[in-house]
Amino acid sequence: MTKTTDSFHQKLERRFASIDDLEIHAQKRLPKFAFDYLQGGTGQETAIARNRSSLNNIQLIPHHMVEPFEPQLKTSLLGRTWSAPFGIAPLGLSGLIWPDAAKHFARTAQQQNIPTVLSTVATTKLETIAQLAPDTAWFQLYIPNDDAINRSIIERAKTAGYKTLVVTIDVPALGRRARDIKNGLAVPPKITFKNIIQGATHPTWALSTLKAGMPDFETLAPYVPKGTDMRAASQYVSALARGHVSMDKLQKVRDLWPGNLVVKGILNEIDAASAKQVGCDGIIISNHGGRQLDAAPAPITIIKNIRREVGAQMPIIADSGVRSGLDIARLMAHGADFVLLGRAFGYSVAALGERGPDHAHYILSQELKNVLSQLGCKTPQDLPRVGLV
Ligand SMILES: Cc1cc2nc3c(=O)[nH]c(=O)nc-3n(C[C@H](O)[C@H](O)[C@H](O)COP(=O)(O)O)c2cc1C
Repeated sequence: MTKTTDSFHQKLERRFASIDDLEIHAQKRLPKFAFDYLQGGTGQETAIARNRSSLNNIQLIPHHMVEPFEPQLKTSLLGRTWSAPFGIAPLGLSGLIWPDAAKHFARTAQQQNIPTVLSTVATTKLETIAQLAPDTAWFQLYIPNDDAINRSIIERAKTAGYKTLVVTIDVPALGRRARDIKNGLAVPPKITFKNIIQGATHPTWALSTLKAGMPDFETLAPYVPKGTDMRAASQYVSALARGHVSMDKLQKVRDLWPGNLVVKGILNEIDAASAKQVGCDGIIISNHGGRQLDAAPAPITIIKNIRREVGAQMPIIADSGVRSGLDIARLMAHGADFVLLGRAFGYSVAALGERGPDHAHYILSQELKNVLSQLGCKTPQDLPRVGLV
């Protein structure tokens, strides 16, 4: 992909000026089962709604009478300076959203100098993404229930050059997602009459998918018993990567991983304290985008409590429900050091293919700079001083 320019984005902005515009277009381009997988959540999707309403309810008080300045987004985190205080959250089964989605995320991350987190259950293998984004890719681990496989994956991530490992703890069991259950979501997509019709009426997705080949869990493929068909392989992968992450399990990963270790899915002070005790380098406050527990709190409402628990030095990253630069500012005004976005980047690649993640990065950066101007903040690190209502 050639580097996109500001004028390219300014033209594109006339149609896609916000992440919401990308979501609307993504819905048109994806078959229903794929869009439902990306947009949907657990239960009655109240956690998804709460993520949004909690963010929308936060008011930030402007500060106008300051010397003129140009806002800068540069932010240091985990030993590196990034061009902005946000990155791309891990998305499993990314190839179902758009073929090679993880590769497009990686190219944008490397070009724009923002982190991209590759999921254990993404459909591109960890070595490929490390090559595409040698400086900016992090690897997300669902700790396998098999010690030898765990050690092997961690070793591969080390050899591939990853410097940050993200252990997700909030999937002790896969959240029940009614839309996916009703759509019969599976890997590979089930060849039902309904799915064929949905594919045929979304030819760009169907043709791109045919060209790229059926998505597969590439990172985990070497561990799937030989001769297993894809459906059984997918069940094997689900069983491999589920279960509670005890302190003991996390400690084993800490002992094996010399780089940055970040725990994702923290929602209470006890887990935050455990992560700190194990020697983690950062935590991600997240309710998995409302996909796990429908009664889970919105991260923005608990950041302050968790900050009190872990202290000022522990990097806190937050995600879930973020759709704009303003939302990033809201989370940072509450004490987050960095923000991840899952669906926003998913919608971008579904709406615009390989150019999508770059455009989402452009929109979010422009929005965040604009918000900083209104608030009289020269940098995102000034946000915690902003008045809140
Ligand atoms: C389609 C989809 C797949 C996801 N897969 C994973 C995953 O494999 N590992 C993980 O840690 N989180 C996963 N998540 C959660 C995201 O990393 C992130 O926490 C969430 O998307 C944030 O909410 P947002 O989508 O509203 O930004 C997934 C989320 C979505 C939407």
